[in-house]
Amino acid sequence: MSNSTPLCDIGLVGLGVMGKNLGLNLADNGYSVAAFDLDHAKIDAILAQDEAERGEQAQRIFACSSFTELLNKLKKPHLIILSVPAGAAVDSVCENLIGAGLQPDDIVVDTGNSLWSDTVEREASYKGKFIFFTTAVSGGEVGARFGPSLMPSGDRYAWSRIEPVLQAISAKVDPETGLPLENRTPGQPVKEGDPCACYIGPAGSGHYVKMVHNGIEYADMQLICEAYHFLREALGMSPKEIASTFREWNKGPLNSYLIEISAEVLEQDDPLTGKPIVDVILDTAGQKGTGLWTAVSSLQIGTPATTIAQAVYARALSSLKTQRVKAAAILSGPKVDAISEEEKQAAIARLHDAVYCSKICAYAQGFDLMKMAAAEHNWDLDFAAIAKIWRAGCIIRAVFLQSITDAYNRDENLDNLLLDSFFAEQLNNSQAAWREALIDGMKFGIPMPSMTSALSYFDSYRTETLPANLLQGQRDFFGAHTFKRVDQKSSSNFHIEWSLPDRPLQELK
Ligand code: 6PG
Repeated sequence: MSNSTPLCDIGLVGLGVMGKNLGLNLADNGYSVAAFDLDHAKIDAILAQDEAERGEQAQRIFACSSFTELLNKLKKPHLIILSVPAGAAVDSVCENLIGAGLQPDDIVVDTGNSLWSDTVEREASYKGKFIFFTTAVSGGEVGARFGPSLMPSGDRYAWSRIEPVLQAISAKVDPETGLPLENRTPGQPVKEGDPCACYIGPAGSGHYVKMVHNGIEYADMQLICEAYHFLREALGMSPKEIASTFREWNKGPLNSYLIEISAEVLEQDDPLTGKPIVDVILDTAGQKGTGLWTAVSSLQIGTPATTIAQAVYARALSSLKTQRVKAAAILSGPKVDAISEEEKQAAIARLHDAVYCSKICAYAQGFDLMKMAAAEHNWDLDFAAIAKIWRAGCIIRAVFLQSITDAYNRDENLDNLLLDSFFAEQLNNSQAAWREALIDGMKFGIPMPSMTSALSYFDSYRTETLPANLLQGQRDFFGAHTFKRVDQKSSSNFHIEWSLPDRPLQELK
């Protein structure tokens, strides 16, 4: 950059896959970017890609070889976006930036998958030194490049400064149809449409919402995998046949990015062996932790997210490969008999409904969890808006999300999505098929942990009297933990002296 080159609009630290693509997206939207990474090869890579893509336009991305140079190349007050791994790297970059001369009105925006409570601590600990702001990003590499879904949270003043930037680079939705406005052409950002970026709330809330997004993502993926497993093992369908079933499903209420990419994976053959690629991919799932955090948070808050938690457990069980191989030789399952074409088609239709109903439950759990967290942390979350910004750009993008927005528009204080008239009708109409599909799965010995947990959630949630009355009796019996009575006010606690022959009832004040 020569002395006459204008200062850059935005600093970018971390030029891995996500950082590089965010940088190019910023550039496409007219922002000049000062880019820094400890790995110089990554700086060279983004400069080369910018050169290849910008055509006749002037240079849009500028290399920096130190944090000091980065600050010197930026307009003041500085606006710096971090795309570094969640955890210690975020603090290390912040400390380096402070050392390089960051000022109290400078803004640093963390875009990683940070743990929401770390964000709360960071905002407090950097107060007075600079403004620590965050935006969670969903959409992977392509989303970052051409329009992710963004979940910003933190200081309101910082939001007022960064809002136009985040809305420009985010995915867009057609306001009429609610469908994503796809753009994959470098240099031509989608300018029109509803942006998939809205202010979520105080520090930590955006990352909490992203964490729940990821928990739902785990559940969505697991439900599709359970359906695949049933179609493959119980109905004997080939990966390509299953792909075409998924493509059919994608025309209806299950329409989603995850169904679409599942079909693509199933259609793919291995370039080395020519076998279906799924048959050469090892069946042990990895995880970076956001689904686990969601499950842990649901346990801590005490709101059931069973379908999400089962998806986390399913990944854990998949990784016990050696034990499973041993167990397969020792533990037997039911014998699978061939079924007629007519029965097969009926089973596929039932399975579709089971996936759909389970998906409704997974989202109901995720939104319920956000509602409970909002109450606990005093966040004013707008659930209709959250569902709206997930309609495009993010991994769980789906037509279905419009129905969630509609539900919260009908009643912003909805206790649970299952109580919304639309979703209640869907579940009431499809539950018979859902139950039959799970019976099919059990009969054939196909594990469907997320789908069965979803049905148990539905059945528990709709049951007026659960067996927790007996449970309270058990607790009182062995631990004098007391119980409440259905016929007395809720402030009163009772205990039975179980060890005495006449078992007297006591009211405890
Ligand atoms: C997204 C994704 C992204 C990533 C997660 C999940 O919204 O773009 O959720 O954040 O894929 O880290 O990764 P794991 O499956 O490894 O937990």
